[in-house]
Amino acid sequence: MRCGGTYIDATVGLGGHSYEIAKRLGAPGHLIGLDKDPAALEKAGIRLQASAFQHKPSPEGESREPEADWPEITLLHRSFAEIADAVEPGTIDGILADLGVSSLQLDEAARGFSFQADGPLDMRMDPQSERTAEQVVNHLDERQLADVIYEFGEERRSRRIARAIVRSRPIRSTAHLAEVISAAARPMNPADRRIHPATRTFQALRIFVNRELDDLRALLEAVPRILKPGGRVVIISFHSLEDRIVKDAFRGGEKKDRYFRVLTRKPVTASIEESDRNPRARSAKLRAAERV
Ligand SMILES: C[S@@+](CC[C@H](N)C(=O)[O-])C[C@H]1O[C@@H](n2cnc3c(N)ncnc32)[C@H](O)[C@@H]1O
Repeated sequence: MRCGGTYIDATVGLGGHSYEIAKRLGAPGHLIGLDKDPAALEKAGIRLQASAFQHKPSPEGESREPEADWPEITLLHRSFAEIADAVEPGTIDGILADLGVSSLQLDEAARGFSFQADGPLDMRMDPQSERTAEQVVNHLDERQLADVIYEFGEERRSRRIARAIVRSRPIRSTAHLAEVISAAARPMNPADRRIHPATRTFQALRIFVNRELDDLRALLEAVPRILKPGGRVVIISFHSLEDRIVKDAFRGGEKKDRYFRVLTRKPVTASIEESDRNPRARSAKLRAAERV
C-alpha cells in the first residue's frame, strides 16, 4: 500500500478493512468507501470518524483532538457496479472488494438473509431496491425458480425444491421456506448432512435478489479503467461462482487484453488458525492483480 494514495473499499460493511486501510494511508491519503447497505455505511462511518480523533489525557481530564495522520474518507451509498461514475479514470492506487453479506446483515433476522433465524423473506442488501426474496419465491414460475436455484445455488435438487416451493405458496418467512426445502430435499448421503438442506437455495435467492454476479462483472470491467498503472485490485470471494468470474477476468486481462499482471497464480486461502477463529474465512478465496 502507498501511504498518501487514493484507495477504494468497494464493500465497506462494518468498516473493518476500511479502518485498516485508513490507518496505513495517513493524512495525505483518500479512502473512498462504498456499500449498497445504508445501515452498514452509517455504522462504519461512526467507527471511522471516531478513529479520526485521538484520546489525549489533559489536566482537565480526557480531551479529543483530531488525529493528525488520518486520511480523508468519503463514504458512498451505491453499488460497486457504478464505481466508474464515482471516480476519475486512472486515479486509483488500489481497490478491495470483500464480497457477500456482512455479519450485520446475516445476524439481523428482519433482513431475511438467514434460515437460522425466522424473519420476513427480504434478502435485499439495499432496502431501496425493488426485488425482494418474497417476490421471487412467490411469483416466479416453477421452471424459472428451478433455474435460479440451479444456476446461483449449484443445487442438484433444484427442480424438486422449486416444485415444493410452488405447492406451498404463499411463503412469507425464512423459517417457512427453510422448512419446505428441508422436507423436499433431505440429504441422502452422510457428507451432505453437514450442510443445512436450505443453504444452497438461500444462497441462490440472495445472489438473484441482489444481482450479485452482474455487479461483480461490472466492477471487474471498470477496474482497469480506474486504476493507475501499478495500481492493484484485490477481490475476496466466498463461493465458486464468484471465484470463477474473478479468475477469468484476471486471466483475460493478463493474456488477452494485457492490462493486468496476476499476482496470485492460486487463490490465497485462510490458515487453519484463522478459519478456527473466523469460520466464515474457511471458504474465502483472495485473488489480486496489478494494472500494467
Ligand atoms: C463481507 S461484507 C464486507 C465486510 C467488510 N470488509 C468489513 O471489514 O467489515 C460485504 C459488504 O458488501 C456489501 N455489498 C455487497 N455487494 C455490493 C455491491 N454490489 N456494491 C456495494 N456493496 C456491496 C454488502 O452490503 C456488505 O455490507
